[in-house]
Amino acid sequence: MSTDQQPRANSGVFRTKSVEQSIRDTEEPEHALKKSLSAWDLMVFGVGVIIGTGIFVLTGKVAKENAGPATALAFVAAGIVCALAALCYAEFASTVPVAGSAYTFAYASIGELPAWIIGWDLVLEFALGTAVVAVGWSGYVRSLMDNIDWHLPAALEGPDVPGGTFDILAFLLVLVLTVVLVLGMKLSARITALVVAIKVTVVMIVIVAGLFFIVGDNYKPFIPPAVTPEGGGSNWDSPLVQLIFGYEPTNFGVMGIFTAASVVFFAFIGFDVVATAAEETKLPQRDMPRGILGSLFICTVLYVAVALVVTGMQHYTELSVSAPLADAFKAAGHPFYAGVISFGAAVGLTTVCLILLLGQTRVFFAMSRDGLLPRFFSVTHPRFRTPYRPTILLGVIIAIVAGFTSINELATLVNIGTLFAFVVVAVGVMVLRRTRPDLPRAFRTPWVPVLPILSIAASFWLMLNLPGETWFRFAVWMVIGIVVYFLYGRSHSRLGQAGRDARY
Ligand code: ALA
Repeated sequence: MSTDQQPRANSGVFRTKSVEQSIRDTEEPEHALKKSLSAWDLMVFGVGVIIGTGIFVLTGKVAKENAGPATALAFVAAGIVCALAALCYAEFASTVPVAGSAYTFAYASIGELPAWIIGWDLVLEFALGTAVVAVGWSGYVRSLMDNIDWHLPAALEGPDVPGGTFDILAFLLVLVLTVVLVLGMKLSARITALVVAIKVTVVMIVIVAGLFFIVGDNYKPFIPPAVTPEGGGSNWDSPLVQLIFGYEPTNFGVMGIFTAASVVFFAFIGFDVVATAAEETKLPQRDMPRGILGSLFICTVLYVAVALVVTGMQHYTELSVSAPLADAFKAAGHPFYAGVISFGAAVGLTTVCLILLLGQTRVFFAMSRDGLLPRFFSVTHPRFRTPYRPTILLGVIIAIVAGFTSINELATLVNIGTLFAFVVVAVGVMVLRRTRPDLPRAFRTPWVPVLPILSIAASFWLMLNLPGETWFRFAVWMVIGIVVYFLYGRSHSRLGQAGRDARY
């Protein structure tokens, strides 16, 4: 037990923070979050963030461009990758119940530099994810406004719209949600529960009502034959795996299912965010695994059903790419359903944005508490007990990004960042089993090391199916992160300072 009570006194970039130290840090009153969440709250929280732009928007796009009716199989493939990762996440969240998700876990298992890298990566995932969803939300709200013939000036409709420059709705949404988060978890959890109910109801309407409009011929062929994209497709837009192996890039066919899976993977992002709330959970050892696996299971079932229904209602070549679920009902001659679905999507995307923003601030908070980012950011509000400083700073930055940026390509960047986090967590589970077999684990990942290795392989496979340019952007972001670590984090790390104090 030599390393249990003290941080390992070394100055290397692989110094690890003991699990006990991580938990003790959460008990410092100035830096503590309130423990108020139950398993049910976590599941609501999970479903609240998981169901969003992925199912409401990307389903139509990948069905039309990559997989046809086999989009349902793409959801199954992405769901399996996530389930493997979820089994790893559940072990670590029940072992190290501290804010910061994969970041905290990597710090306890692999070391400081890998932890920093993963924290930096999560900042990318959550910040850009929030922006993507805010812009998706804005699109649905504008579509509802159109119904009552109410229009914004084109310039304020966002850069994706011809003539638009600034997305005022996305910008305002992020700012309002920032205020909600500063006011406290309790308030946001209550709002979340109501909105999740609306969102799940709308998804159920799509599935149940849609069943009556399915035309069997739309499923033929279920896996459309592979075709070469216009212009040959052999550029950086193509999946990296196709560039590496040099075969002619194709859409559809069996490989198209994996391309689709690497995109609709976005629809599952969020179950990992549940782990960021471990510190605010009453009984994390019991409730974390329930919350993570439960919410993931519910969403996978709903996604597969929605994909099957929508591609059965309309031939995949005719699906809309901006509001496919609502438009499939319009095409079937039921505009009323379409209106209800658009409304539910707009309401539902609000919670997705809120929870991604929350996950973002908690990771930032944890990194700051460890001294890798300025400690100024980890002082909680005296009354609301929330990390209000990073919440406000990041909220404003994300609002601006959401307002000014065309987000489409950024969704794949979010995916690659998240898949990378999955790989690190799976490695961490194996490492911590060896270095700290003594730790109580309320939930144990089955078949270690086979399952974590499978999780790594599956996540990496989806990463390889993302475009070459996404890999390039991801590499640039990571290089910037490593420079920041060596210029600031390495010397300001509390763990490093404790190590130095121990020596002198
Ligand atoms: N999974 C979330 C969505 O689909 C991020 O929008």
